[in-house]
Amino acid sequence: MSLPGTGTARWHPAWLPPEAFRAIGTRRVLVHGAGPLVDTVFEEVTRACADHGGRARRTGATPPAGTTDSAGPPDGDGGGGPAADEVDATQVALVLRGAGALPAVAGDAPVPAGGEPGALGDEGFLLTRDGAVTVLLADAPAGLLYGLFHLVRLGETAFDPARPGAVHRPAVRRRMLDHWDNVDVHPVMGQVERGYAGGSIFWRDGRARRDLARLRAYGRLLAACGINAISVNNVNVHATEARLLTDRLGDVAEIADVLRPYGVRVHLSVTFAAPVVVGGLATADPRERRVRDWWARTTRQVYQRIPDFGGYLVKADSEGQPGPFAYGRDHADGANLLAEALAPHGGVVHWRAFVYDHRQDWRDRSTDRARAAYDHFAPLDGRFDDNVVLQVKYGPMDFQAREPVSPVIAAMPATRLAVEFQVTQEYTGQQRHVCYLGPCWSEVLGFRPWGPDGHRVADVVAGVPDRGRGGDLVAVSNVGDDPYWTGHPLAQANLYAFGRLAWDPRRDPRAVLDEWIDLTFPPTTTGDPERVRETLHALLDDSWRTYERYTAPLGVGFMVSPANRHYGPDVDGYEYSRWGTYHFADRDGVGVDRTRATGTGFAGQYPQPWSTVYESVDECPDELLLFFHHVPYGHVLRGGSTVVQHIYDTHFAGAEEVTAMRERWRDLAGLVDPALYDRVGERLDEQVRSATEWRDQINTYFFRKSGVPDAKGRRIH
Ligand code: GCU
Repeated sequence: MSLPGTGTARWHPAWLPPEAFRAIGTRRVLVHGAGPLVDTVFEEVTRACADHGGRARRTGATPPAGTTDSAGPPDGDGGGGPAADEVDATQVALVLRGAGALPAVAGDAPVPAGGEPGALGDEGFLLTRDGAVTVLLADAPAGLLYGLFHLVRLGETAFDPARPGAVHRPAVRRRMLDHWDNVDVHPVMGQVERGYAGGSIFWRDGRARRDLARLRAYGRLLAACGINAISVNNVNVHATEARLLTDRLGDVAEIADVLRPYGVRVHLSVTFAAPVVVGGLATADPRERRVRDWWARTTRQVYQRIPDFGGYLVKADSEGQPGPFAYGRDHADGANLLAEALAPHGGVVHWRAFVYDHRQDWRDRSTDRARAAYDHFAPLDGRFDDNVVLQVKYGPMDFQAREPVSPVIAAMPATRLAVEFQVTQEYTGQQRHVCYLGPCWSEVLGFRPWGPDGHRVADVVAGVPDRGRGGDLVAVSNVGDDPYWTGHPLAQANLYAFGRLAWDPRRDPRAVLDEWIDLTFPPTTTGDPERVRETLHALLDDSWRTYERYTAPLGVGFMVSPANRHYGPDVDGYEYSRWGTYHFADRDGVGVDRTRATGTGFAGQYPQPWSTVYESVDECPDELLLFFHHVPYGHVLRGGSTVVQHIYDTHFAGAEEVTAMRERWRDLAGLVDPALYDRVGERLDEQVRSATEWRDQINTYFFRKSGVPDAKGRRIH
C-alpha cells in the first residue's frame, strides 16, 4: 500500500505533506531494528528518501518480502551491521537498542542522563550525535516511530551538530481519541454525533467503510502527533453498535489491523446492558455469576481476534444509557465487572464520570448538575480496580468554552483518572468558527487544584504520590470524511495540539501551533513563510478567548440554541428545560449561586484554597464569576467594570475581533492552496455572521432585562 499525501490522495495531507519530510529525506538514513513498527519507520524513511533524493537502509531485520531499498538493493545481511562504506556514508541512524549489535555509527553516541539502555520505556527516545551522525535511539519500536516524527518536526534543525542530546518520553501513557461515530445513521444525531466534518471514516449507513488507505493515513497522522489509542464508536451505544462486541467484531479487527503499524490501539464503546442486548441474558447485574462469565467469555473472544485490543469505554447511567443503578449497584461494582473481564488480557475500562440527572425540574433550585460527578464518584475512591480509568470531563458541566476545572480531579487520589477534552467543537463553534483550543487545554492541565505550590492537573494524570495514580488524556475526536479531515482546515490545529499536549502538557500552545504551521504549510512551499506564520498566529492564538467574549459571559455557559443543536445563541434556550443548565437571569442580576453559604454548595467540593476563593464573590476570578455567584448587574468585577458593562464590552470586542480575523485571512491570498483559502474564507464569513448574532442577542437580552444602557452609547437593539 502506498503512503498517502502525494499524487492522487483524496484528502489533505494535514501535518504530513511530503515536503515536511525534506530534511530527513535528503539524507542517508539507516534504520536498525526488527518488528512491524520498525517496518513502518523504514517505510516512512524510504518514502521520504524516494521523494527527496536521500537513501534509506535497513539493518537488524530481514526486510519483508517485496520491500526494496529506495536507492539500491535491499540489505541482505538480515541482522548484522552495514558494510564499512555504508557506515561512513550514514548521516542519520534510527536505532532500536537491544536488536542485536548496535551499528557502529551509533556505538559511541553520548547518552544523556535518563537515556541509559532500558530507561526510555515503551515510547521514549533519545536524540544525540555520534560524530557527524545524528542518532536516534529507542528501547522499544514505538519509541523509534515517535522519534522519527520528532525528526520530521524539527526539520533541518534536527541535524544541527550543536544540538544537545535530549531524552523524550510522553508524560501520559495513553493519549486517546474517542470517536462518537455511529455505525448506523442515527435519526437525530446522524452518522457522527456532534460531528462537524462530514461522515465517519469508519462507518457508513450501517456498514464498515473499509477505506483502508484513508484509515492508514489517519493512523499516520495520529502517530505523528503522539496519539496511541482510539475508540471507534459512539459512547451512546445503539442497537447495531452493541454488536461490534460480538458478531460485528470483525469490523473492529479490521480497523485495528490498519492502525497497528502506527502504534494506535483500538478500544470499543460498549453498552453496560450488553449481556441482555446481545448476550440473551435476562440481567446485566454485575453481582450475577452468569453476567460475569458472559463478560469474561465475550472478552476472551475479543482478544482472540484482536490480541492488542485496548479495552472498553462505558457511558453508564448517563443520559439514558443503561448502568449499574438499575440493579441497585454502584459505579465501582459496574466498572470492576468489566475490569475483571479485561484484566487477564491487559485491557482497561474507561468508565465515564459524566453521570447526572438529565430529567431535572427547572423549578428545583437545590439540584445542581455541576455537583453530580463528584457526588457520585468521590465516595468511591479506592474501590476501583487497577485497570479502571475513570474518565472525567475537564469541567463539571459539559465542554463549555469556560468552566472551572472539575473538582473530581482533585478528589480521587486512589483512582486512575483520565481527563476528557472535546476536540470536536460542539460548544465552541462547530468547526465553522476558528477556535484554537490549545490554550484552554493548557490552562486546565496547568491548573493547580491545591494552590500555587501544589501539583497540577497534568501531574495527577501523569501520576504523583498521594495525589493521583496516573491515568490518561482523552478527547472527543473532530475527524470525519471531509477532505480536510476536520471540516474547517484550521481545526486540524486542535487535533494536532491535543496529541502534542497529551505527550507534553507543559508545552506552550503557541509553540505547538508553530510546529503545526511549519508542518502543514512548509516554509519552502508558501513563498512568504513569515507572513503565513504571523497570519495564522494572529487568527488562532487568541481565538478561544475571542469566542468566549462573544458567547456566554463570565463562565455562565449554555446560552446556545437547543434547536440548532448547540449552534448559535439562544439565551433562554435551556432555561426552563430538564438539562440542569440555567443562568437565572432576572431584572436584577444573573448567575448561579454555587456557594456553600447560600447556594448549592458546589464550591465546597474543591480543596483549599479554591474552595475559599470560589466561595467569595470578591476573590472569585472574573471569568468564572457567574458560574459560582448570582450577582446584580451593577456588581463591580475585579477588572473594574460592572457585570453588564463587561457583557456589552466583551461582546462588541469579540465580534470586532472576528471581523478583523476575516480581514487578516485575506493576507494569505495566493500564499496558500486556493481551495483551502476559499474554504477558510467561507467559514470566516459565517463566523462573522454568527458572532454578530451572538453579540446582538446577548447584549439586547441583558439590556432589556436590566434596563442599563451601554456606557459607550453603542447600538443595542
Ligand atoms: C454532551 C453531548 C452529547 C454526548 C454527551 C456525552 O451532552 O451533547 O451528544 O452524548 O455530551 O459526553 O456523553
